[in-house]
Amino acid sequence: MIGQNEKPPFLETFRDRQALIQGAAGKIVRLCVRAIEEKGRFAVALSGGSTPRPLYALLADGLCGFIEWSRVHFFWGDERCVPPDDIRSNYRMVRESLLDKVSIPSANVHRIHGEEDPRATAAAYEKELRSFFENAKEDGPPVVGFDLVLLGMGENGHTASLFPGLPAVTETVRWVMAQYVEVVSMWRVTLTPVVINAADHVLFLVSGADKAETARRVLEGPVQPEVLPAQAIRPAHGQLLWLMDDGAAGRLGKETLSSRGDQNE
Ligand code: 6PG
Repeated sequence: MIGQNEKPPFLETFRDRQALIQGAAGKIVRLCVRAIEEKGRFAVALSGGSTPRPLYALLADGLCGFIEWSRVHFFWGDERCVPPDDIRSNYRMVRESLLDKVSIPSANVHRIHGEEDPRATAAAYEKELRSFFENAKEDGPPVVGFDLVLLGMGENGHTASLFPGLPAVTETVRWVMAQYVEVVSMWRVTLTPVVINAADHVLFLVSGADKAETARRVLEGPVQPEVLPAQAIRPAHGQLLWLMDDGAAGRLGKETLSSRGDQNE
């Protein structure tokens, strides 16, 4: 069920992972250029995990000439509570694939300090977000939020570090929360749907047949975000985009596949 202000999701499929990454990179560059033209900056929350690594590398190696890096602000959608040089760190993955290859002011890289106390880190990151974005009310979403939030999806339907059954999935006030995640036996810091759903664009990047059944449940099944946290992502005014390869889209019905949503992205 689409809320009265919500736009239908934009869904695009690609023959394989490489085509998916290339398609996503092109879309992100277009969103970046437009945001910089319209607002003078492009504020993006990056996803962790393995799927986006080649995307970040392509943006740095192949498309960097199209991006005015001094106008780009990088945030993270979530972080593992480990040091920034830990192999599990989402910051380390982005640094290696992207940040080390482009000249971007250090002040534009808004790292989540996974090496510090999780709850203090969540509070500090929320403070940093609130000082970066206009916020109409102390207990509300940003009036002008991210230009883009990039998300992945796990086989259990988690996104960012919004995992099934955890309070952050249904949080209605805080923008950032720390959670101990049993299924991965670690603390995580994550953006909540409050700030994600205030974004102008939210882009799910999903690859692989192992995610096809979960994608079908998320996009076509009953709405139950506590079970499938990716369903908690419903931008209030922005555009929701799903970019998937044919493997991940393999269980979707014809009606979903034909719902191309807003083609002007
Ligand atoms: C993380 C991510 C997480 C990820 C999914 C998919 O910190 O791991 O933010 O939400 O996007 O788990 O991960 P893959 O891209 O590795 O399948």
